[in-house]
Amino acid sequence: MKTDFFLTPELTRNNQGELMYEGVSLTLLAQVHGTPCYVYSKAAICNAWQEFDEAFRPLSALICYAVKANSNLSLLRLLARLGAGFDIVSGGELARVLAAGGDPRKVVFSGVGKSSSEMKQALLAGILCFNVESLPELERLSHIASELGVCAPVSLRVNPDVDPKTHRYIATGLKQSKFGIAYESALALYEHARTLPGLQITGIDCHIGSQITSLSPFLEALERILRLVERLDSVGIPLRHLDLGGGLGIRYHDEEPVALRTYAQEIGQRLRHFKGRLLLEPGRRIMGNSGLFLTRVEYYKTTPDRCFAVVDGAMNDLIRPALYDAWHEIVPVLARDRTEELVDVVGPVCETGDILASQRNLAVSQDDLLAILSTGAYGSSMGSNYNARPRPTELLVDGTQVHVIRRRESWEAMYAQESPALDL
Ligand code: LLP
Repeated sequence: MKTDFFLTPELTRNNQGELMYEGVSLTLLAQVHGTPCYVYSKAAICNAWQEFDEAFRPLSALICYAVKANSNLSLLRLLARLGAGFDIVSGGELARVLAAGGDPRKVVFSGVGKSSSEMKQALLAGILCFNVESLPELERLSHIASELGVCAPVSLRVNPDVDPKTHRYIATGLKQSKFGIAYESALALYEHARTLPGLQITGIDCHIGSQITSLSPFLEALERILRLVERLDSVGIPLRHLDLGGGLGIRYHDEEPVALRTYAQEIGQRLRHFKGRLLLEPGRRIMGNSGLFLTRVEYYKTTPDRCFAVVDGAMNDLIRPALYDAWHEIVPVLARDRTEELVDVVGPVCETGDILASQRNLAVSQDDLLAILSTGAYGSSMGSNYNARPRPTELLVDGTQVHVIRRRESWEAMYAQESPALDL
């Protein structure tokens, strides 16, 4: 039997060889709630949050959890209670944060395509800051804020042009990217912004990408941003905050994530002359390793070429492997001493790309339960109804308790917004 290197304080095996998430048997949980389902550990989320919070406490940073990583209301509420601010990218995310009891004064609004109605919604809610990404966006915000008779707090998201050395789909701080304002144009745009009505310049922002596992791209970006901060100061534009975005990577397979303390210390050292507040927008680092996806093998199918575990979860539930070729550790819930085979773990969706893992050494058979690990971030939130598959149940374990934080979607709920009665 393989050693269970993936085990954590929250994910353990009991004496019967069964996976336990906190005090809950995953076998029992699947029996009661069905599969596929997402399962999160409250302790893991709280620990990940606290690690971040403690590392950055000396810097009095405001940590704005990136809602897109996982926007389940109960999880947002949990984070709000822990003191989190939120990084949002849509009106829908703002509505979720408010519904979960989040404080709008701790909300930053990122994103390259904010609509007029989203701007209005956020202005009326009284958010902390808009991270503006272009001249037309700045002008639109000025116009809308003036019309409402309010002042919009503004940061410019500057593209520092550094290579985060991550998957090209999730690199955002390179010159070729659609995100942010070109470094060379930022000063002029700040000077323009201060002439526009309805705006108050409060900060500067950058976000260079996601799943970054080395410190140097962050520090390189910070140094470039700080050079700009100095120039802004010299032309009479002092800033109240500097937002360094999210992007810290986690361990999916054999990555070595950046230590949070080192990250905080290195940032703190560079910020020693900066009088404003530090903001951060972590998503994956809080949620990624705090959840798993539980799925059952429907069929074990062999062809002359390959062995397939056809499971009840699919690319519509978890698209990261199909979209980014991402690796998620796959672990049988019940450890058995059987010979492993090279297996492709695939879903029922009618796409060749519906692969959750390929060519893994696994001992599996029909009806076995599999836990797909590190799926707390960008799992459920990127899910869809493709192939008319309902959104899975989401559960939060807390010690021996299990909370249903999202019921399995019904078929009717899936088509509730459509018009079946239209006689066309
Ligand atoms: N702030 C901004 C402006 C962002 O665009 C993002 C992520 C974050 C913060 C949070 O980044 P994190 O700390 O989670 O790396 N779907 C991809 C990840 C896309 C990230 C998009 N932006 C994945 O599954 O890997």
